[in-house]
Amino acid sequence: MIKVSPSILSADFANLARDIEKIASADYVHVDVMDGLFVPNITIGIPVVKAIRPTTALPLDVHLMIERPVRYVEQFCDAGADIVTCHVEADSDENTREALAKIHARGKRAGVVIKPKTPAEAVLPFLGDCDIVLVMTVEPGFGGQSFMADMMPKVAQLRRWIDERGLGCELEVDGGVSLKTRDACVEAGANVLVAGSAVYGADDIPGRIAALRG
Ligand code: DX5
Ligand code: ZN
Repeated sequence: MIKVSPSILSADFANLARDIEKIASADYVHVDVMDGLFVPNITIGIPVVKAIRPTTALPLDVHLMIERPVRYVEQFCDAGADIVTCHVEADSDENTREALAKIHARGKRAGVVIKPKTPAEAVLPFLGDCDIVLVMTVEPGFGGQSFMADMMPKVAQLRRWIDERGLGCELEVDGGVSLKTRDACVEAGANVLVAGSAVYGADDIPGRIAALRG
């Protein structure tokens, strides 16, 4: 089954609880954390994750676009994150491994993320320790960008490795996912679709979530 993880980066930050209620039929709530260093934008931090936690029963899928995420993963878990993903480009392999271990020690799901220019191979050292792998289909930093279809071979490669190894790992795509691009993602083997503008830009949000799920 395909899961939909709407990104609240496209929600109205003055009405986050209301806008999270609008996506109650989704599978996860995607929370984009940016530090102005790893990406040229600053968004949501730990206090906001804590504030939205009681507003929804859905798992919070927290995408950390921050330098050296190992410094903060435990705080995001304690604030109420259910899934925490860290970019492999944001620290050494050793520290990324430590970040995954810290997330797991908190009883939460952990994963790694790769930017468009990062090859699928960069995930391999962590694949056995991941509950989820996230492939960026735009350069991280902003919502509303165009989908990079040339990332699909990378998604397909990761799907092959996950299946060959019999791993229960989820495979998520993020950036420019819409009704037009979701089929390519699913055909390549993604099972979790992040969508910001495609969900919050819809007149019928539950209808759009259902259509993305397919
Ligand atoms: C980009 C974020 C995405 C973004 C997706 O850095 O990681 O989650 O919100 O937005 P859309 O779906 O509008 O491309
Ligand atoms: Zn994201």
